[in-house]
Amino acid sequence: MKTEQIVRTFVEYFEERGHRRITGSTLLPPPGDPVLFTTSGMHPLTPYLEGRPHPLGRRLVDVQRCLRTTDLDEVGDATHLTVFEMLGTWSLGDYEGPQSLDWGYGLLTEGFGIDPGLLHATVYSGDGRTERDDASLELWQDRGVPVELTLQDNWWSNGPTGPCGPDSEIFLWSGDTPPRSTPTRDDRWVEVWNHVMMRHRRLDDGSLVPLPQRNVDTGLGLERLASLLQGKSSVFDCDVFDPWRRLLPGLWPLEETSLRLVSDHLRSAVVVIGDGVCPGATGRGYVLRRLIRRVLTVLWRDDPRRGLGDLPSELVEHTLDHFRQDTGQDEVRRVLLDEERRFGRLLERGRQVLARPRFQRPLGEEDLHYLHDTHGLPRDLVLSLREE
Ligand code: SER
Repeated sequence: MKTEQIVRTFVEYFEERGHRRITGSTLLPPPGDPVLFTTSGMHPLTPYLEGRPHPLGRRLVDVQRCLRTTDLDEVGDATHLTVFEMLGTWSLGDYEGPQSLDWGYGLLTEGFGIDPGLLHATVYSGDGRTERDDASLELWQDRGVPVELTLQDNWWSNGPTGPCGPDSEIFLWSGDTPPRSTPTRDDRWVEVWNHVMMRHRRLDDGSLVPLPQRNVDTGLGLERLASLLQGKSSVFDCDVFDPWRRLLPGLWPLEETSLRLVSDHLRSAVVVIGDGVCPGATGRGYVLRRLIRRVLTVLWRDDPRRGLGDLPSELVEHTLDHFRQDTGQDEVRRVLLDEERRFGRLLERGRQVLARPRFQRPLGEEDLHYLHDTHGLPRDLVLSLREE
């Protein structure tokens, strides 16, 4: 099943159950939001989870692009991407968690044809202040799905304060043996769908108060599900990455982990630029800068003649089209190339400065400050130049 068909199947399944489709937002949260990028499907819906009536009602479904920098160092493994899409459903004070889990189970097994014997669930175990999630536990027991109880892994929040609650996660077995063990003990159990019983709000002092309504917020990583349904062992092997797999290895021969990192970061950079961000020294611009510079560091490690000017147009176009972004591909290329030139000049200066006699010894904190303040050389860059 191709990604597009997965999205259609998901949305139609929930539309048939009274949900209205909303248009996903860009990666940029509204002004005043302290978070740099939209990190989950619920993020743009926060006011509605907190009680404001949504114009389309109490049952919603959508596809939301998200960006997570917390996972940046994990990119290259089988399941993490920087920019990814999340399929989501919401009950805004309407139906409760067990109904959501039951529909989730129905869609996975009947809609997507997953063998129920390959599923495992986790449920919130309770901590004395908040109770064990018995309603979810019972639902899974009725369906014959094994359950593991956990504490921290089954509590979801989007930040230190705001809406939060216990969650129940559905895992799919990805191993080539019959399923064994449990999700926290064997990472061949891959998390596919999180159902959050979002009915609390955490205040600044850390205390929990009930939200005005009992919501359910669910999120399912599209590329992760696609790779599992397509029988692939990593998100980089699902159809979303077909053009990258076809075009990049001929251009830049890289070993698998580097190829994944370069594909992920370049695709993410295109989407971020497509949403109107330019590289910069702080905030969103800095995230974009890091993505591009990480790509260049990998490319230039083996061959300094490599450059982003060679990036096939098809990859930029495919990405902008997929995310329905209006930014022209020439603009995206201009931003990438400007940043490449800037980084190239910085590296050049860094090498010259570090070649001076006073730096021919181990560098201390003071040197790092001096190099940063006087020569504009970031710490990471200096440290990586020292390793060359
Ligand atoms: N907010 C939850 C998550 O991001 C479910 O949508 O996992």
